[in-house]
Amino acid sequence: MDKKANLILLGAPGSGKGTRAVAICKVLGISQVATGDLFRKNLSENTDLGKLAKGYMDRGELVPDDVTAAMVKERLSMPDVRAGFVLDGFPRTVNQAKMLDDILSELGENLASVIYLDVSDDEIVKRLAGRLVCKNCQAPYHTEFTPPKVDGVCDKCGGALLRRDDDNPETIRKRLKVFHESTYPLIEFYEKKGLLVRVKSEISPKGLEADMRDILEKMGLLK
Ligand code: AP5
Repeated sequence: MDKKANLILLGAPGSGKGTRAVAICKVLGISQVATGDLFRKNLSENTDLGKLAKGYMDRGELVPDDVTAAMVKERLSMPDVRAGFVLDGFPRTVNQAKMLDDILSELGENLASVIYLDVSDDEIVKRLAGRLVCKNCQAPYHTEFTPPKVDGVCDKCGGALLRRDDDNPETIRKRLKVFHESTYPLIEFYEKKGLLVRVKSEISPKGLEADMRDILEKMGLLK
């Protein structure tokens, strides 16, 4: 690896952030930091943070910036992220991006790149309608595009595959609206900083690891 891979994956709900993050972490040996997964873990453990996040998540709204940034700061302070990280689902507002700048400067870290996954809303609706997620390890599958080897069972850990509560048509519409209003401005924010890399994310999941290797090589993160 040439430079430290501190990356952000930016994209609409269902654009493939989680799927790509898993591929990047496997290729580069770095850690995935997914705010949605962290909230869902808190929810399953019935913590105060989980109880607070649940209402926002069920409505397809964003959890308040200060709560989310505090959780990210705690996670980024853990030793496993020293080798590099992929932020999946954070930041989602310009305010969160500024908070992230402060967190990284306190930790003495810099961002290498921000990868924007560009996918049409029609494709997103198809992806989320067929998504299944492992109850244990959160690995994403799709009933048609990336089915598990055995129906309803995670290939990686043997956990049960479930549909997410927020993958229903009404909440998907709300999440897309929030993306266009609150998160889309981040594209310009990171373009101005010279950090944005646009990736057309409509490639088949089967070719995804090879595609990701190619992108990381061009970014100077993989030899
Ligand atoms: P979160 O869990 O982050 O959800 P999201 O952003 O809506 O993104 P998803 O996890 O739905 O999709 P993804 O882009 O990871 O796609 P995936 O790889 O699974 O957040 C949930 C909620 O938590 C938010 O609504 C909010 O309330 C809260 N939250 C989280 N972060 C927050 C923050 N920073 N601030 C405030 N609140 C926050 O892929 C989707 C499907 O497509 C899968 O089935 C997959 O198998 C399939 N697929 C993937 N790639 C391809 C491909 N190339 N071709 C075909 N199918 C594909």
